[in-house]
Amino acid sequence: MQAIVITGTPGTGKSRLAKLLKQKLKHAELVTVNEFAIKHKLVMGKDEFGASIINTKKLAKLLNELVRRSKQTIILEGHLLCDMKIKNAKVIVLREHLKTLKRRMEQRGYEKRKIYDNLVAEATDYCGTEASKRYKQVGEFLSSDPKLLEKVLQFIKQGKKEEDIDLLDELLSLMKQERNFSL
Ligand SMILES: Nc1ncnc2c1ncn2[C@@H]1O[C@H](COP(=O)(O)OP(=O)(O)OP(=O)(O)O)[C@@H](O)[C@H]1O
Ligand SMILES: [Mg+2]
Repeated sequence: MQAIVITGTPGTGKSRLAKLLKQKLKHAELVTVNEFAIKHKLVMGKDEFGASIINTKKLAKLLNELVRRSKQTIILEGHLLCDMKIKNAKVIVLREHLKTLKRRMEQRGYEKRKIYDNLVAEATDYCGTEASKRYKQVGEFLSSDPKLLEKVLQFIKQGKKEEDIDLLDELLSLMKQERNFSL
């Protein structure tokens, strides 16, 4: 069956969009990849920030099996999805303004270094670049766009894509504003 992959750096709004999309598509099944990985015992350890290290090779295998067997559309959401390949997937890469992301991560109590790393990943479009290496149908969308859902549905149904989103200048501005930003 068809898979819709929602990926993007932490806090870009993947879970939020996935829920909205599931409501719209009615007969779709939603899989939160992090929860799926825990359920299938694919956590191999913790990184320096305490986040789970996941066996992505095995995860990709199980997710592909799930999609192949499913009789309905499957929405998969998670940041790990840009580092693996799900067959016949339409991939939505969510992007967000760095100030918004920074505020969200601060509210979550992330360490400064983790916030910095994630913002650099977002500014350099890590997920979009990685997804484009593995998937044919990739669209990038700004999470805070009021027309996000409408645009995502157009992408799913007609393959219509947005223009490139460039957040590099935002990274430079943040670095200039906060002199110890990278510490
Ligand atoms: N477009 C938006 N407008 C307003 N708030 C948003 C928007 N998108 C996400 N948020 C808020 O930002 C926070 C993070 O969103 P969400 O949990 O969906 O991100 P995520 O990409 O799933 O994060 P994670 O990678 O940690 O799973 C939530 O509080 C959510 O309500
Ligand atoms: Mg989430």
